[in-house]
Amino acid sequence: MKIEFLNLGKQPLANSFLTQEQFKNEFFFDLKVQFDTNTKLVSLVNFVPPEKMFNEDYAYSSSCSKTMADHFFNTAQYLMSYGSPKILEIGSNDGVFIGNVDPKNAVAVEPCANFANITRRMGYTTYDQFWTEDLAQQIVKEHGTFDIVYAANCMCHIQDIQQAFNAVNIVLNDAGRFIFEDPYLLEVIKNSAYDQFYDEHAHIFSIISLYNLLKNAGFRIYHVDFPNTHGGSLRIYADKRNAQEPEKVSSQIGIELGYKLDQISTYETFASAVRKSKLDLQFLLKNIKSEGKNIIGYGATSKSTVIYNYCQTDTKYIDYIIDTTPAKQGKYSPGVHIPIVPPTKHITCDYAFLGAWNYKNEILSKEKNRDFSFITHVPRIMII
Ligand code: TMP
Repeated sequence: MKIEFLNLGKQPLANSFLTQEQFKNEFFFDLKVQFDTNTKLVSLVNFVPPEKMFNEDYAYSSSCSKTMADHFFNTAQYLMSYGSPKILEIGSNDGVFIGNVDPKNAVAVEPCANFANITRRMGYTTYDQFWTEDLAQQIVKEHGTFDIVYAANCMCHIQDIQQAFNAVNIVLNDAGRFIFEDPYLLEVIKNSAYDQFYDEHAHIFSIISLYNLLKNAGFRIYHVDFPNTHGGSLRIYADKRNAQEPEKVSSQIGIELGYKLDQISTYETFASAVRKSKLDLQFLLKNIKSEGKNIIGYGATSKSTVIYNYCQTDTKYIDYIIDTTPAKQGKYSPGVHIPIVPPTKHITCDYAFLGAWNYKNEILSKEKNRDFSFITHVPRIMII
């Protein structure tokens, strides 16, 4: 049974930064979140058609920050330590990970044509298609099976997740490893980070839910770890061995059970915390404005789209958003239409809402000499 527990209202596509001419045709959907009492999977109630989100206009570029570039470089070095494995990457974006692997040993899958063209130019065979069992069969016919299948911030985008895991089983050789990472549900719950729920994140995974889904697809989880990316991620290591989960995996499942991630009551409590976070943010922003101070946004992130729309935070509160991604500059944020501008050397404002909270450490060290304060909503509304 699926039980809805959170309603974040009408939301636009979180990464669909737009021009003024595009305002009138902007797409909105009802962003609601549900819990499946059978699989324990947390998913959106209404999925947006993938072609609307992942196409040649897709704006999210994984190389945008040093944190992410370093993370993928280190991941590639680690995977290479298994010898010279043959790697398939699902969701290769702009090549930030695969660029560290020899093109002779790697194949990429990336449905966004703009990014697929980048990895092709870098010399990688790239399939610009969505990840399905049919595509898996085609890839095996053309390249054989793989030693490693890697996916970062991609599996949680795939609506028919069971089918996606079945497809990985097709391309992975019998001794192969399936390694993937996505935002971690336990961090979302602990930090009231409700902005992890948006159109692209069809699911937010716990280990408990992945244990169930991966088992159905013929995988066992042999290791887990927790990269510090995207506001707290979960990385799963799975193989096809018919063996018991090691202690580290069962103990982390025990921790999740301690947080009651298998029970609907946890999600209802989380939904109350989200409603409080909205009221607290609105109260704080109103107070700051009433003192005649100004507020800007720092980072035009997909997550901040959710916050601004859910909390009705438009240009009445936020003058503009600064962002380093050239493709976003000169455009407007989805839904509430706040202008996006490149950052200046010296940022002049009283407060900056930290839309890019997932890069907090990188940003706080870059802005250590700031003469403005940050506002964040994670883990609760506060001023830094
Ligand atoms: P994301 O959270 O949806 O990945 O988007 C991150 C955005 O944050 C991206 O457009 C770049 C922006 N950003 C800045 O503007 N300044 C920064 O210092 C960092 C780290 C990111």
